[in-house]
Amino acid sequence: MNLERGGSEAVTRDPIEDSEAGSLHDQLKVFAREVGVLYSAERVRRRELEHALESAREMYLATMKSLAHVVEAKDPTTRGHLDRTAHYGLALARRVDPELAERPEVAYGFFLHDIGKVGIPESILCKTGPLTELEWVVMRSHPNQGARIVEPIPFMGEAVDIVRCHHERFDGEGYPMGLRGENIPLAARIFSIADSFDAMTSDRPYRSALSLDEAVAEIRAGAGTQFDPRCVEAFEELATEEDVLVLPDRRRRPSFATG
Ligand SMILES: [Fe+2]
Repeated sequence: MNLERGGSEAVTRDPIEDSEAGSLHDQLKVFAREVGVLYSAERVRRRELEHALESAREMYLATMKSLAHVVEAKDPTTRGHLDRTAHYGLALARRVDPELAERPEVAYGFFLHDIGKVGIPESILCKTGPLTELEWVVMRSHPNQGARIVEPIPFMGEAVDIVRCHHERFDGEGYPMGLRGENIPLAARIFSIADSFDAMTSDRPYRSALSLDEAVAEIRAGAGTQFDPRCVEAFEELATEEDVLVLPDRRRRPSFATG
């Protein structure tokens, strides 16, 4: 038995207890080392999974973008429409709801809005004369066709609603569902202004492009009928306060953020 003196009192230590404490301490050290190794392995595994997920996401997006460009290539009169509308739409979204504009799915939805046109025959898509009633039925199926294309992709989220609802009107007279007012997702209400603005300011075989002022006046005239008045107000501010609404003949090529 060991005797140690601490101050005036003698402390008695049991060698069996000492040896058990030592062994417990060693076991804890081994355990801590093993936990450390497992933790590092888990971090490596998580990084690998994140990397694989990111690669899969980029591949999906690249495929979707290619499909969207196929649509654009089918109709040469709308060349550049996808980039421009995504650019205008995001600028307007930043004014209406900055938090919404930050979500990547919103940019995906804007860029992929017409992807369903991949299923529309070129004889209808590129027809220069007026469409027949039956041809309109086919043409108006593109939002639902597009939603079906993007819906299975897990990270698309509200992009699906934008694709499906970009031709809805604030007064309920749009398609495919005839949604009215705030039943239409906000991102789709914003986008329909960007989409219409680009159509108005682009030359078509059957009419010339409107000027910036004429197009803004047309958008203003559609407040409360075709468009959400709150979004129209923000659009007018955008038109007067920022150099964002660059018309096709003098446009910079906007970049589409995939991140
Ligand atoms: Fe469309």
